[in-house]
Amino acid sequence: MRVVDLIEKKRNGLELTKSEIDFIITEYTNGNLPDYQMSALAMAIYFQNMTQEERVHLTTAMVNSGDQIDLSEIEGIKVDKHSTGGVGDTTTLVLGPLVAAVGVPVAKMSGRGLGHTGGTIDKLEAVPGFHVEITNDEFIRLVNTNKLAVIGQSGDLTPADKSLYALRDVTATVDSIPLIASSIMSKKIAAGADAICLDVKTGNGAFMKDLKDAEALAQAMVEIGKGVGRNTKAIISDMSQPLGFAVGNALEVKEAIDTLKGEGPEDLTELCLTLGSHMVMLAKKASSLEEARALLIEVIDNGQALATFKTFLEAQGGDASVVDDPSQLPDASYKISVPAKADGYVSEIVAEQIGVAAMKLGAGRATKESVIDLAVGVVLHKKVGDAVKKGDTLVTIHSNSENVDEVMNFIYDSYTIVSEQVDAPTLIYKEIH
Ligand code: URA
Ligand code: CA
Repeated sequence: MRVVDLIEKKRNGLELTKSEIDFIITEYTNGNLPDYQMSALAMAIYFQNMTQEERVHLTTAMVNSGDQIDLSEIEGIKVDKHSTGGVGDTTTLVLGPLVAAVGVPVAKMSGRGLGHTGGTIDKLEAVPGFHVEITNDEFIRLVNTNKLAVIGQSGDLTPADKSLYALRDVTATVDSIPLIASSIMSKKIAAGADAICLDVKTGNGAFMKDLKDAEALAQAMVEIGKGVGRNTKAIISDMSQPLGFAVGNALEVKEAIDTLKGEGPEDLTELCLTLGSHMVMLAKKASSLEEARALLIEVIDNGQALATFKTFLEAQGGDASVVDDPSQLPDASYKISVPAKADGYVSEIVAEQIGVAAMKLGAGRATKESVIDLAVGVVLHKKVGDAVKKGDTLVTIHSNSENVDEVMNFIYDSYTIVSEQVDAPTLIYKEIH
């Protein structure tokens, strides 16, 4: 087999076979296939697309390029959740304890944040003492006893994807549906999930700015999941503004606690109930979405969701007393109000700009080496559709530095206030089965 012939075949719009795709990915992983050939192939895929069969073969080949996590010692159907990324997306912190409280095993491998989107581990480390450096055996034992544990990324998962993603980043081939879908799904499958629940974001703060593209991506991932024998569901949700109110590590832990108590922001609560219901169904712990949702509401109302969060934090060294007293979480020295400059209605909040504002405060990493400040971030008081009066606080900046001029400019840039009334955006657009 010659790689140049395979590139030509794809370039001409023909379908690659399983053995051809396996050959390409194996050679690439072993360092025998140069980046220039892989780049040419990625570009050919970008223009010619891939069939459903090719997508499944590519995903499987990337899974097989590295280690796979074995979760078979955990009882029950392990459901993993994945979001295509957003700003202030506190859902994982809420969903873990929420679905675990109704008996869904959550064995979460998580990462740290880079750029303006925060990582789940960074957020959890805002709880004093909490750590994810646990052995695989301990991880499995904790999931079996508490239904919930989080471990840091270990092993060499999907090295082919790692190299290919870096290459796509510099060859204008990131925004290709077959390549994105196989990239995301290969990581979820290698991490050992039996079933996968996807939250595909759309809107200005998302990767897929318009609904049609988000739908195509969701459909592609659901079909790959089914093609490799992992039941997969997707929803498409709004990221035309940040989710919830809080953006920042300790601030989002506090927001998650509020939500687990039933006192969280409306959009975050609704998204968690929707995703949670699908996870409960995928784990076969309910026979309808309505029943699943009722179970979730019950564990919020009776305190079991919150109790599960406490047990989980304690089991991994965390000081669970922060749950009853969030004032013990890291707290910034300065709370600075960003007042509205005019009367009107909020028509837009550019999520990415809010994310960048939080990063500038120190809540996120500009580079892999950056040290983050767990206390800082922003809390939104006005969301799209809200009426504002001149002088009302749009956002509170939580900072450890007095000088927040640059951050304030980012926030003003992200908000648009108009004189006519505006509707709040749709939160959940679609479910893809
Ligand atoms: N996220 C991924 O993990 N892979 C992609 O290709 C795009 C976004
Ligand atoms: Ca949030």
